[in-house]
Amino acid sequence: MTYSLENVVPWGRTLDEYATFFALTDDDLKKSIIGCGDGPASFNMEATARGTKVVSCDPIYAFNADAIRQRIDETYPVIMAQTAAHQEQFLWNHYKTLDNLANIRMQAMRRFLEDYRDGPSRYIASALPDLPIASDSFDLALSSHFLFLYSEQLDLDFHQRSVDEMLRVAREVRIFPLLDLTVQTSSHLEPIMTTLGQRGYHCQIETVHYEFQRGGNKMLRITRS
Ligand SMILES: C[S@@+](CC[C@H](N)C(=O)[O-])C[C@H]1O[C@@H](n2cnc3c(N)ncnc32)[C@H](O)[C@@H]1O
Repeated sequence: MTYSLENVVPWGRTLDEYATFFALTDDDLKKSIIGCGDGPASFNMEATARGTKVVSCDPIYAFNADAIRQRIDETYPVIMAQTAAHQEQFLWNHYKTLDNLANIRMQAMRRFLEDYRDGPSRYIASALPDLPIASDSFDLALSSHFLFLYSEQLDLDFHQRSVDEMLRVAREVRIFPLLDLTVQTSSHLEPIMTTLGQRGYHCQIETVHYEFQRGGNKMLRITRS
């Protein structure tokens, strides 16, 4: 698939945020982790700094740091203006203010760019549903704000193949949030849980201590039984 940066809205989150989305414990951070669709998140850089073995996969890693920075500079004011215009659609318990959200987001993306500029092999240019990774390479695979969120744009087949691929490379998969962009529970969630259940996987929806999209405080954990 041809992938163009013009279609991407880069938005990156921190290790603290990932830890809350995915209920990551200190023991989890001792595991090997693959982040699928990590984009310009500082999760990889920060987790690596504390000793976690972490690899991130995203099609934007086909582009260099300057190109990604330019795209962030173009889209950042647009997203912040949209968030400001629709503030009532979000819960502000976590970030408190729009300025604080803006600072956290920008700092995360700056940290990502500093790390990424050095070209570490921890960033792999690749797109779900295909990961260029050997089977059973990781303990944990994460998807933050990609699977389920774009359910209107990406169909059930794409989601099922992506989750299957994540389960091929990792023993456990966690996905957050379970809402789509219209703030409804993804219509793909139930069929995927049914299919995986029939194949003997254990799927559990867990409430986490993070809610920004109203009702967006659920994480799906999938483990091999
Ligand atoms: C909203 S961002 C989330 C970034 C990061 N996970 C976070 O939560 O901060 C969605 C990411 O999905 C990536 N993406 C788009 N298509 C993808 C695909 N087929 N496979 C993996 N990632 C993809 C985009 O490039 C973008 O970085």
